[in-house]
Amino acid sequence: MGKRNIEIFDTTLRDGEQSPGATLTIDEKLKIAHQLAKLNIDTMEAGFPIASNDDFEAVKLIAENVDGPYICGLCRTVEKDIQKAWDAVKYSSKPCIHTFIATSDLHLKYKLKKTRDEALEMAKKGVKLAKSFTDRVEFSAEDASRTDKDYLCKIIQAVIDEGAVVVNIPDTVGYAQPNEFGDLIDYIKQNVENIDDAIISVHCHNDLGLAVVNSLEAVRRGAGQVEGTINGIGERAGNAALEEVIMNFKTRPDYFNCDTGINTKEIYSASKMVAGYTGIHVQRNKAIVGENAFAHEAGIHQHGVLSNPLCYEIMNPETIGKKTELVFGKHSGKHAIEDGLKKLNYKFSPGQLSKITQKIKDLADKQKTVLEEDIIAIADYELNKSSKKQTVVLEELSIISGNKITPTAVVKVNLNGTTKTSSAYGVGVLDASTKAIRNILGPDVKFKEYELKAITGGSDALADVSLTLMDKSKKKYNARAIDSDIVMASVKAVINGMNKIEREKNKKSD
Ligand code: KIV
Ligand code: ZN
Repeated sequence: MGKRNIEIFDTTLRDGEQSPGATLTIDEKLKIAHQLAKLNIDTMEAGFPIASNDDFEAVKLIAENVDGPYICGLCRTVEKDIQKAWDAVKYSSKPCIHTFIATSDLHLKYKLKKTRDEALEMAKKGVKLAKSFTDRVEFSAEDASRTDKDYLCKIIQAVIDEGAVVVNIPDTVGYAQPNEFGDLIDYIKQNVENIDDAIISVHCHNDLGLAVVNSLEAVRRGAGQVEGTINGIGERAGNAALEEVIMNFKTRPDYFNCDTGINTKEIYSASKMVAGYTGIHVQRNKAIVGENAFAHEAGIHQHGVLSNPLCYEIMNPETIGKKTELVFGKHSGKHAIEDGLKKLNYKFSPGQLSKITQKIKDLADKQKTVLEEDIIAIADYELNKSSKKQTVVLEELSIISGNKITPTAVVKVNLNGTTKTSSAYGVGVLDASTKAIRNILGPDVKFKEYELKAITGGSDALADVSLTLMDKSKKKYNARAIDSDIVMASVKAVINGMNKIEREKNKKSD
């Protein structure tokens, strides 16, 4: 029997963006959307258009600009939501409406305050309306894994009759066990008369660490679409990590006998981009995309891999677009660096290229070698920076610290063309520097989260800082910066965040 094709539905920009602290700007969403299209996913859930104006605009922009996948907007089964989702996705040549209602008694009673019959009617009406706009309509029964099985089958059969072409079975709270979830798929196949008229989709959350395995088991039992996110980000403990799902199918065709249309060589870039923009770093030992996923430390492993990689490697890092051989030193020329960046799928203007080359050379002066991780961080940072107009620019930073000195910082910042200077004390140099910046920019900005990561090992490693700032309307802004100096990286990240806030202010006053 030929291999079954499994469709991949990416919800990085919707469920993924619901990860605590992962707000993305519209530019960042568009860049991620283009990368997802390169990955060749089947459907991209670009957002929840009724949730906010920003969400609506992002879905619309993606629908207007990104070709390839279905562009999908999420909506509840209520008229105004469905209309809004359509208004956003209608610009795509492949629009999709994803409408959902909770179906478990728990959700019906406490959240929706509706009876089963009322929810059934809402689901039917919602799908019918969505179908009047587009052919590609997906219906989700939220909390399906805790829903009465016969009621679930009844509602699925009804929405397929109304025209749903994808029926999604979410394990919304990550409660199901693999065999149990597989049995649920079997039950649906056996008890929904028109099930062959729709694709069964699954959407698993990772609260018990089972999102990927539950999705895989569902596919083994007949599901034809898997929903998830890059790096597994999402509500609470996240969604199924799509890179893991995809690589299971690719690595074990003997077991699954199925494949996806995914261009796996784009996985690593997608993972880096999502981690960079959301500020949610990938743990080193994460399957597929973690830094250690293909690293061999033990001598016996290294020897085995050198003799034949199959001894310890079940996948080739190049399959996910990860090349480990890129290492630059201070003698590396512009052409070698340009070539390296091309291999990593980056394209830069000559001006950007010289800036990046200089940064890599400066780093090589400080570190013995500059590894691929450093290069990606520098390139991503430059790429991100180049698309934004900076209204807050750091001109100077001086810090004083020691075991008998109160940490002090003096900063000079150019704000909309005017240079302003301030100094401050703090519990550490970072605290002092950010206080000094805040003296200049005003008290309305608050620090929410701060994460420091050394990109490659050693005390001379490049520091990668991600942080979240909050403005007075409580809107959150993620920002990131890299530098070989921890304080500089932190201050640059604050400045980047401040620029995002200033851009938002200017947008509102335009
Ligand atoms: O987890 C969930 O149930 C969802 C639905 C909206 C599909 O995200
Ligand atoms: Zn979800």
